[in-house]
Amino acid sequence: MPYRLGRTLITAAEIQARVQELAGVISQDYANRDLLLICVLKGAAIFWADLCRALPIPCQSDFVAMESYGDSTLPLEEPRFTKAAGVSLSGRDILIVEDIIDTGHTSAHLRKLLLAATPRSLAMCALLDKAERRQVATSIEYCGFVIPNAFVVGYGLDFAQQYRHLPHIAVLEGLPEA
Ligand code: IMP
Ligand code: MG
Repeated sequence: MPYRLGRTLITAAEIQARVQELAGVISQDYANRDLLLICVLKGAAIFWADLCRALPIPCQSDFVAMESYGDSTLPLEEPRFTKAAGVSLSGRDILIVEDIIDTGHTSAHLRKLLLAATPRSLAMCALLDKAERRQVATSIEYCGFVIPNAFVVGYGLDFAQQYRHLPHIAVLEGLPEA
């Protein structure tokens, strides 16, 4: 195979510590609100699982899926909504839980779709922000780590559905330049 698992960018311990910090801020901001976590499958599933268990406040969760890459690393301009939320979003305080914001196309599109359902509020919690790759402006109210421009895997993030199970974030090496 031309690609291989490279250096660790963020250790499992660093991720766990940051998740606890994010949960602390979120639980203050959303105390006495109607918090609905919207986990973006599949990449955010592990982050969501740790984040929601660190929240001491009442919250509900639902899942959406956006297809943006298929088995490639090249972003599509128009991400597809392949699974919509299964609960009413109107009047809710929605916090999107995402794995990574790269070009910004996926989250900008997802925000538009969720806003159309008239939530009371809408915010983004992303574990990773590949800020220098941004093509579309999109706000990230809660960000785990800003990372350099590298393709990363682990802690839910995949390459061709592999590596999601790693407890840390690692760089995937040997890919052609995106
Ligand atoms: P965007 O639309 O370019 O912001 O891409 C967002 C989506 O692309 C993320 O939710 C991920 O599923 C995927 N993605 C972007 N960069 C990476 C990466 O480095 N590793 C794994 N998936 C990525
Ligand atoms: Mg994703």
